[in-house]
Amino acid sequence: ASLELGPYSHFMQKEIHEQPKALADTIEQVLEQGFSPALFGAEAASLLGKVEGVQILACGTSYYAASVARYWIEQIARLPCQVEIASEYRYRDAVALPNQLVVTISQSGETLDTMEALKHAQQLGHDLTLSICNVRESAIPRASRLVFYTRAGAEIGVASTKAFTTQLAALFTLAATLAKLRGHLSAEVEANYLDDLRKLPGSVQHALNLEPQVKAWAELFSTRQHALFLGRGVHYPIALEGALKLKEITYIHAEAYPAGELKHGPLALVDEQMPVVVIAPNDSLLEKVHSNMQEVRARGGELFVFADLDSHFGESDGLHVIRTPRHVGVLSPVVHTIPVQLLAYHTALARGTDVDKPRNLAKAVTVE
Ligand code: G6P
Repeated sequence: ASLELGPYSHFMQKEIHEQPKALADTIEQVLEQGFSPALFGAEAASLLGKVEGVQILACGTSYYAASVARYWIEQIARLPCQVEIASEYRYRDAVALPNQLVVTISQSGETLDTMEALKHAQQLGHDLTLSICNVRESAIPRASRLVFYTRAGAEIGVASTKAFTTQLAALFTLAATLAKLRGHLSAEVEANYLDDLRKLPGSVQHALNLEPQVKAWAELFSTRQHALFLGRGVHYPIALEGALKLKEITYIHAEAYPAGELKHGPLALVDEQMPVVVIAPNDSLLEKVHSNMQEVRARGGELFVFADLDSHFGESDGLHVIRTPRHVGVLSPVVHTIPVQLLAYHTALARGTDVDKPRNLAKAVTVE
């Protein structure tokens, strides 16, 4: 294993740092072809053209990728989109809407609940199926009519990192491709989106360079029993992913909330012992997030904010800020994933837990 690890101490660390390359490999064909249905398979031009809605099914980290995608599919492709945990969907008598695209997302392609959810969808009458997967010829893409393979390379660490960010790149490509087929993507916007994708590996590298600052925060997190993650809009699923990473590898109890929901319950948990992580890039919801942050400060909660260049607030007592060095627009959730991965990783190191093989968890869950 030490040979494969190269300069890294853990596979998770290696995989976090492989993300610029994993993303560049995954989007290579998109940059060559533009947002073309051919990226999703031979049948895609005819099948994707009739889509009137999208249902995404997945588990774990892949489910959070789905949750980000919902914002993009609605905003960019103007299609209604539902997202559901595969283990719930498979036992629900959902009503199959005509021309609904069923998307399954799975790093391994072997997760039993996701496979069974796909079969359940097919039994309900869905025949437009697409899988986003990292492992070629695995069970889920084989059972799907269309497929997009992420090119993250083998992911060994149980906690998913590079698979997640490459899934996001694939899902953004799906949203833009559906938009284009539906006549909702002007040539100018397509060129801008392709440019955003082209810059993405570099923006992710800039975020990776924040590692020393994130590591300094991890020292404090490693001494706490609980943590709260807040985000809004498309960054709420990144807060969820940050809380999941922390739970998985540090065993610290972490929860994520959409920041506007704070006042409806979790604010009661906030005191001096509760570190609160906020994903706060400069988007249309920043002002709202800012007032949510003040609610936390007023109760003594210590704030750890991941912001970007354009989010205007400085450090003050109990308010720590790490700024991602670029404003990356629509792909901002991908870039803001990096610091929450690094925070979990370094907190785990400080606590001495088994980063690559957390207790009770498996890389691919092929049982119910
Ligand atoms: C397991 C892994 C997670 C992963 C989930 C879904 O729980 O520990 O990291 O997100 O399965 O896996 P999949 O291969 O379907 O994406």
